[in-house]
Amino acid sequence: MTFVAAQHVGQGDWSGRSRVLGNARLAEPGTSFHSMDGNLERLLEAEKERQKRAPGVAAATGLRDSVEPARRCGPAPRGHTLAAMNRREMLAGVAAPVLIPQRAFGANDRVTFGIAGTGNRGGWLHKSFMRLGAECVAVCDTYEPYMERARRESPAGVKPYADYHDLLEHPGLDCVVVATPDHQHRPMLYAALKAKKDVYLEKPFSMNLAESAEMVRTVRGTDRIVQVGMHRRSMPFVYAAKKLIDEGTLGKVWHARAAWNWNFVEWLDNSPLEGKLDWERFLGDAPKRPLEPRRFRWWRGFWDYSGGNMTDQGTHLMDVIQWMTGNSPPKSAVCNGAVCRNKTAEAPDVFTAVFEYPAMMATWSLNYTSAYDYDWSITLQGEQAAMVLNRFGYRVFKEVQPSPQPWTSGPADKVIAEMPDKDSADAHPRNFLECLRSRQQPNCTVEIAAAAVAGPHMANLAYREGRKVTA
Ligand SMILES: NC(=O)c1ccc[n+]([C@@H]2O[C@H](COP(=O)([O-])OP(=O)(O)OC[C@H]3O[C@@H](n4cnc5c(N)ncnc54)[C@H](O)[C@@H]3O)[C@@H](O)[C@H]2O)c1
Repeated sequence: MTFVAAQHVGQGDWSGRSRVLGNARLAEPGTSFHSMDGNLERLLEAEKERQKRAPGVAAATGLRDSVEPARRCGPAPRGHTLAAMNRREMLAGVAAPVLIPQRAFGANDRVTFGIAGTGNRGGWLHKSFMRLGAECVAVCDTYEPYMERARRESPAGVKPYADYHDLLEHPGLDCVVVATPDHQHRPMLYAALKAKKDVYLEKPFSMNLAESAEMVRTVRGTDRIVQVGMHRRSMPFVYAAKKLIDEGTLGKVWHARAAWNWNFVEWLDNSPLEGKLDWERFLGDAPKRPLEPRRFRWWRGFWDYSGGNMTDQGTHLMDVIQWMTGNSPPKSAVCNGAVCRNKTAEAPDVFTAVFEYPAMMATWSLNYTSAYDYDWSITLQGEQAAMVLNRFGYRVFKEVQPSPQPWTSGPADKVIAEMPDKDSADAHPRNFLECLRSRQQPNCTVEIAAAAVAGPHMANLAYREGRKVTA
């Protein structure tokens, strides 16, 4: 009975209205949801110490690059290795004051944009930016069929570029959308900043923790607007959920869980590609190797180009958990997982990570072999109420009175608040375009993005090195 109700709750049509309850606070006053603080910094220090104590270990596992900046994405700038990074630098990187000058956009000026990466997400963003009134003047992709599609769907006169450095030189370009695989995020961000462009950068922010710190510091050394593509940060129902939680509706949250369930066969087919691919440019700074079509088709399966499914989806969900509960990155992570179905991939398609926060536990489970409890969900279990957020919106369930005996406690299934997800598709790109004019910080800053992906990076380390990763 309970089982059926839970399934209904997860997958029903959420057409209800929003209700606001209670007036207590969940988060400590003054808690910053927009900064990456102590835990991540401590984690980097701990990694440094660990490597000093056992320098051979990381190298022997071949995983040294997972804690040093940018190994997967080419050499880090001189002096910017993890070993060279100190506490003051880390803090300076994340806490530097941001001085943003007013820009010269007139009220009727049209923002012009170029896009690097016009595949699955880039194809969607390309259309979203145009729907919002921005003008696409330049496109760039390493795969000809995607580039051609973007060209066809752009206004006449759009210029195709084989190399993103050339795209950045396009005359009159205001900003750039980067929707390439994860290993290209850092070099493309840096090139765009150097060319003085504002950037809409897809998630996950970085390839590893040290790269995150370096990227935050680099962005904060410029006056550019950088929005990271974690679009839940602009969804009205998620904001409403946050307000409800800040008002104390859930009471103390001791446990949060994130889940993502899809049933699909990862695209690891190694048959020849149908169109032309510039494989060298696709690899960029990643290790050179002969073309393997499956590495292009499902780059998420390989550590050279991504943090796997762990950071791909985990950055979205762990961000919401940290935001809602006022937590910065976790104190520790453990993770078990396996490459269950897609045997030629390196990254697991089934895993569970457990994160320890100062006063909360969280789990993050992904299963790409089952569509039961389909798609993403986040459950926050508070002492007063529980909240479930998913693709339909949010629902809040009143907690029952604790009972004297375990077997007399009933289920917490009474819905006391709900709000459907509506009109959120273009909200995140819209927020970015608004910020280009206002020069305000966007909804998903680089600090937020770095903090969001920190837990998943820790969990990847835990999985790959078979140990508990502690900050
Ligand atoms: N925010 C979201 O909900 C969301 C959803 C999906 C993907 N994403 C993110 O978007 C990014 C792209 O994912 P995708 O699913 O679109 O992948 P994809 O493989 O469909 O597209 C990536 C494209 O980047 C191109 N590319 C690679 N290297 C390039 C280079 N040097 N120059 C120009 N183009 C290059 C590839 O040819 C490919 O067309 C990833 O970072 C992913 O995490 C975000």
